[in-house]
This record gives sequence, structure tokens and C-alpha cells, in this order.
Amino acid sequence: MVSSALRAAVAVLAAGGVANAAYSIATTDDIKETAATIAWDLMQYYHGNESGQTPGILPGPPPAGDYYWWEGGAMWGTLIDYWHFTGDDSYNKLITDAMLWQVGPFENYMPPNVTASLGNDDQGFWGMSAMLAAENGFPDPPEDKPQWLALAQAVFNTQAAPDRHDDTCNGGLRWQIPWVNNGYNYKNSIANGCFFNIGARLARYTGNTTYSDWAEKTWDWMVNVKLMDDKYNIYDGGHVEHNCTDINRAQFSYNNGVFLLGAAYMYNFTNETRWLQRTEDLLDATLKIFFPGNVAYEVACEEHMSCTTDMLSFKGYMHRWLATVTQIVPVLSPKILPVLQKSTEAAIATCIGEANQRTCGFKWNTRTYDGSRGAGQQMNVLAAVSSLLIGQAKSPVTNGTGGTSKGDYNAGGQGDQFGVVHAPVTTGDKAGASILTILILAGAAGTFGWMSIDL
Ligand SMILES: *[C@@H]1O[C@H](CO)[C@@H](O)[C@H](O)[C@H]1NC(C)=O
Ligand SMILES: *[C@@H]1O[C@H](CO)[C@@H](O)[C@H](O)[C@H]1NC(C)=O
Ligand SMILES: *[C@@H]1O[C@H](CO)[C@@H](O)[C@H](O)[C@H]1NC(C)=O
Ligand SMILES: *[C@@H]1O[C@H](CO)[C@@H](O)[C@H](O)[C@H]1NC(C)=O
Ligand SMILES: *[C@@H]1O[C@H](CO)[C@@H](O)[C@H](O)[C@H]1NC(C)=O
Ligand SMILES: *[C@@H]1O[C@H](CO)[C@@H](O)[C@H](O)[C@H]1NC(C)=O
Ligand SMILES: *[C@@H]1O[C@H](CO)[C@@H](O)[C@H](O)[C@H]1NC(C)=O
Repeated sequence: MVSSALRAAVAVLAAGGVANAAYSIATTDDIKETAATIAWDLMQYYHGNESGQTPGILPGPPPAGDYYWWEGGAMWGTLIDYWHFTGDDSYNKLITDAMLWQVGPFENYMPPNVTASLGNDDQGFWGMSAMLAAENGFPDPPEDKPQWLALAQAVFNTQAAPDRHDDTCNGGLRWQIPWVNNGYNYKNSIANGCFFNIGARLARYTGNTTYSDWAEKTWDWMVNVKLMDDKYNIYDGGHVEHNCTDINRAQFSYNNGVFLLGAAYMYNFTNETRWLQRTEDLLDATLKIFFPGNVAYEVACEEHMSCTTDMLSFKGYMHRWLATVTQIVPVLSPKILPVLQKSTEAAIATCIGEANQRTCGFKWNTRTYDGSRGAGQQMNVLAAVSSLLIGQAKSPVTNGTGGTSKGDYNAGGQGDQFGVVHAPVTTGDKAGASILTILILAGAAGTFGWMSIDL
């Protein structure tokens, strides 16, 4: 499919005119056409609906392909918003098939295939996409299948369960879920951010304060452990053996985005001034750090293009989450909407790459194709373009305002598959515990040895 916006741009080029963008976002129709073409190009990276392939995932995880499991979940969220903003339901069946295929045996987004790299954040991204489906009124799955709200609750319940919480660093979630994984000793912002975000949204959707109590507790933990400082900088994480004081100070846009959206939901749910203040302060910090010159910029890795495949997809979540903030905290719209507009103008200017002359790049502030292509890069621009329609889109619903998704307070609560034991380690136990760990890691190396996880 070639959009008319694209044809017009090609015509300008052919006529020798200066066209620095293949796409237009001048009108609602242009935005829809542009988004449709970018979505189609994004879906060229997906093969899960072809015979012999696994539904739900992008090619991977490494070394089998570039993409970790979570990014598929994030992509379905992007496409759920794409449908919500544009009304184009071409991919709805694909989305539903994918989201349901990956639920795992306990319907909590912990499929055994991905155990070796299963983090709370990975599970959380799938959970946030299920939550979004409920909030956007995305068509409910057949009754005999897991429902969107229940899936989000399942993710929340497994993450709120005692076996995911221990006293190291005074609380908080670890990055990895199975204790044999690399990164189990790391407590980080994105794992806790996803949990916070889902908690805030479940509270608003269901009206149940159990969820907001956890969100409140998670925010406080972030502040106390100094992963969020008093200037609203959010840092990546720290290790339990250092009581999380060895803070990795890298700042990534998805951390700010996930907490910002959660804080906005907390304000919408509680109507408390302090949540408005937190939302606004975090917004100000976020725009300052991640939108220099009003263009999305992945500050930790963009300058030297040291971004990993994961990091190459963060800008899109930021755009979508900022857009949603304008609906649930409308008083902040004047600060957000002009930035999203300018940033998106820069984004589409990169979409002039490769043989089709419309492949999108990553370095938006260059306003030209930078040679960096992939599902993340394409998904970022899709998110930015389709979110421009936020002003015409329905606000996220709740159970009381038109939401139809069925929940289950006990969903996902069958316990962890991993037999995680969190007995506090006393000095006397330490030697024994680490020997046990070494024995088990040695055994696990045979199973998981092919995996290597980069921080
Ligand atoms: C998979 O989905 C894409 C996008 O909708 C579609 O173009 C393609 O034909 C589908 N492939 C199969 C084998 O169904
Ligand atoms: C797990 O992997 C197998 C083998 O690749 C595949 O057939 C199956 O669909 C996968 N299950 C999920 C939930 O992805
Ligand atoms: C660990 O850090 C927390 C703050 O996150 C602090 O309250 C606690 O006292 C520290 N514990 C130790 C043993 O240093
Ligand atoms: C929210 O709080 C404001 C004052 O801060 C008040 O004017 C408004 O009525 C409250 N709205 C609701 C729904 O409670
Ligand atoms: C909460 O969100 C709704 C949209 O769903 C919006 O109309 C309302 O103004 C928001 N409440 C606050 C306090 O901003
Ligand atoms: C959600 O709404 C439905 C229909 O109005 C109602 O039956 C159900 O009890 C509500 N659930 C919750 C958790 O409030
Ligand atoms: C609120 O949610 C919690 C946690 O899922 C659940 O145990 C409790 O029954 C719910 N409360 C109500 C009033 O539904």
C-alpha cells in the first residue's frame, strides 16, 4: 500500500523540489495515512502469524533474533493504541492472537519458553498492554479465554506476592524473576515502574485501593532508595549486595515515562494535590532531560549510538504515555501537546531511508535518515504519529465508565513456577547459601548458558 501522502511527497521529489519528509501529518487524514503506512512497515518485522513461527514475538530472543520477548508485548500495546487513535482494525486479530498466545500456563504472562530472561519488567510490559486493552475498550477475547483486565491483575498479583519481595534494599522488586538468572541481584527502576504503573491503573479502573496502596509504597521505595532523586531524576538501578547504594545513574526515557503515567493515574484516582505536584514535577524533569529542542532524545545512548535494541524502542512509549497524561490530567496538556507535535515533525523527517525511501531512523534531531532501522525505530514513529490524534480519542475507561473487561481478583495467583525462596540471609548462612547458589548455577549453566544479559 502506498499512501497518497507518500505519493505526493515522491511527486515533489521527482519535480526536483525539496522534500525532507516522505510523510505528512498536516491533517487528521494525513496522520491516519502516515500511521497506516508506518504500521504496515512495522509489521514486516513480525512473522508470528506465519506457519512454523511463534505467535506474539518479534524474531528472537538473542541469539535467535534481535528482539527480547518483552518487545513483542510492547509492540501489541503500540498497536492497541494505533487502533484506538485511528480506528484501523486491520491488526486487531493479530493483536488478540498474539496477546493470548503468550499468557503462559497460569495466565500471568510467564510463559516457560522465556524463563531464562524473564524480568519483572518483561512481564510488566505485557501486563501494561493487557491493561491498555481494557482501558481502550479493545474488543474482549472470547469468554473461554483470559480477559484483559484479569491478565493485568494476574501480572500485578504475581508481582505483589510475598515471594517477589524481600528486605534487601528495604524492599522493592528485583529485576529478574527466577533466582538463577543474571540480574536477580539487581533492583531497578523499570521493574518497579511497571508494577507502580499497573497498580495505579488497576486502582483507577476498579476503584480498589489495594492497588493504589502498593503504588504508593513503590513510589516511596523509589525515593527512599534514591533511585528517584529530589530533582525527579530516575536512575537505572542498584545491586542488593550493596543495599542498592551502587546506583547505576544511567537515565532512560522509559523509566520516566512509566512513572509519569502512573503518577498521572494516581492523581486521577485520588484527586490529591500531592500527586498532581509529583506528576507535574516529573513531567518538567522529563521534558528537560529527554526532549532537548522539543525532540525526543535517548540521552544515555543516542549521541554515540550505543543504544541496544531494547533502548531503540523507548521513545515511542514516552510519546504514547505523555499523550495519555493529557487525557487523565488535562491541566497538563498545554505543556505536553506542543512538544509531542514538534517531536513528531522531527521523527517523520527521518523516514526517508532504505530502498523504499520511507524507512524511519532513530536520531530524530538530525531530521534525516541516520541508517538505523528496526522494529523499535519504526514503532517509535508509529507511536508518535498516531498519538497526535489523542485530542479526538476517547479517554481510558474504568469499570464504572463503560469498561467491559472482566476481572478476577485472584488471577495469576497460583504462585511462582520457580520455587523462589527469600529467607533472609544471616551471616551464618551466607557461606552455605552461596555454595548452594554456585552448585545450582553450575547446573543451570547447562540450561541457560547460551543466554547472556547485558545491563
Ligand atoms: C500476517 O499478518 C500480516 C499483517 O497483517 C499479513 O500481511 C500477512 O499476510 C499475514 N501472514 C499470514 C501467513 O497470515
Ligand atoms: C514455545 O516454544 C515452542 C517452540 O519454539 C513454540 O512452539 C511455542 O509456541 C512457544 N510457546 C509460546 C507460549 O510462545
Ligand atoms: C539500606 O538502605 C536503606 C535505604 O534504602 C536504609 O534505610 C537501610 O538502613 C540500609 N541498610 C543497611 C544495612 O545499610
Ligand atoms: C478534586 O479536587 C479539587 C480541589 O483540589 C476539587 O475542586 C474537585 O471538586 C475535586 N474533584 C473530585 C472529583 O473530587
Ligand atoms: C480524570 O480523567 C478523566 C478522563 O477519563 C478526566 O475527565 C478528569 O478530568 C480527570 N480528573 C482529573 C482530576 O484530572
Ligand atoms: C464492574 O461493573 C460491573 C457492571 O457494572 C459490575 O457487575 C461489577 O461488580 C463491577 N466490578 C467491580 C470490581 O467494581
Ligand atoms: C481489592 O483487591 C484485593 C487484591 O486483589 C482483593 O483481595 C480485595 O478483595 C479487593 N477488594 C474489594 C472490595 O473488591
